[in-house]
Amino acid sequence: MGSERQVASTKIVMGNWKMNGSAAKVATVLTALPSFPPNSDITICLPFPYLAQGVQLLDDKHCVVGAQNLSEFADGAYTGDVSASMLADIGCKTVLIGHSERRTFFAESDEVVAAKLTRAKHARLRCVVCVGETLIERDSGLAQQRIQQQLNAVLKQLDSDAQALAFCVAYEPVWAIGSGRAATEAQIAEMHQFIKNIIGTKFPVLYGGSVTDDNAANIMGIANVDGVLVGGASLDASKFAAICNEGLGK
Ligand code: 13P
Repeated sequence: MGSERQVASTKIVMGNWKMNGSAAKVATVLTALPSFPPNSDITICLPFPYLAQGVQLLDDKHCVVGAQNLSEFADGAYTGDVSASMLADIGCKTVLIGHSERRTFFAESDEVVAAKLTRAKHARLRCVVCVGETLIERDSGLAQQRIQQQLNAVLKQLDSDAQALAFCVAYEPVWAIGSGRAATEAQIAEMHQFIKNIIGTKFPVLYGGSVTDDNAANIMGIANVDGVLVGGASLDASKFAAICNEGLGK
């Protein structure tokens, strides 16, 4: 699958279905996924209505289910919201926080992202905080400044007792998402180094944005890339399984 570069150690692979799929599609794709080895670190983030179905279907595959969002509130009169404890209650292990599509289409501020992180942490969910710059920000030389700003909002929550694997950052340049144009190796290497300098080396940093079964191995071979967050390609069982296998160094 175009894997010129060898992936050194087990990488984290997460799929994000976004607002795609149906109960039938979830059943088809998740059933078609192989059973991964016990040391795998693989997650599929499904739409809310299919989370419980996903938990059931993936029960024995060493692949866990994640949500794509959660409420910034604990519980109560917040019609339409889904709380962190509800996610944990149904067997969801992970949650994406502050995806650029949430920031853009639902006006999620850095403060809201921080509040959601607090909720997810208390529910013992693995938190994947998404950061990324727009093309205008990159072209204006403001990419690092924007990432710094997004990370500043959550940094105080990375207390020294934060479990390394309970918190990840996903670097997803907005212009690379769904565009078929992944960031270059140099751009990924530079930004991941920058992020590690800010959050410390114990927390994993994933790359997302037009990751496919063709480029995943190369991307996961870049320094400071601990895994990938996959959108479109995660809707296809064979492509997603191929990316997972690259992450396992197979
Ligand atoms: P694509 O892989 O479809 O570009 O989506 C990336 C993404 O937004 C994952 O969260």
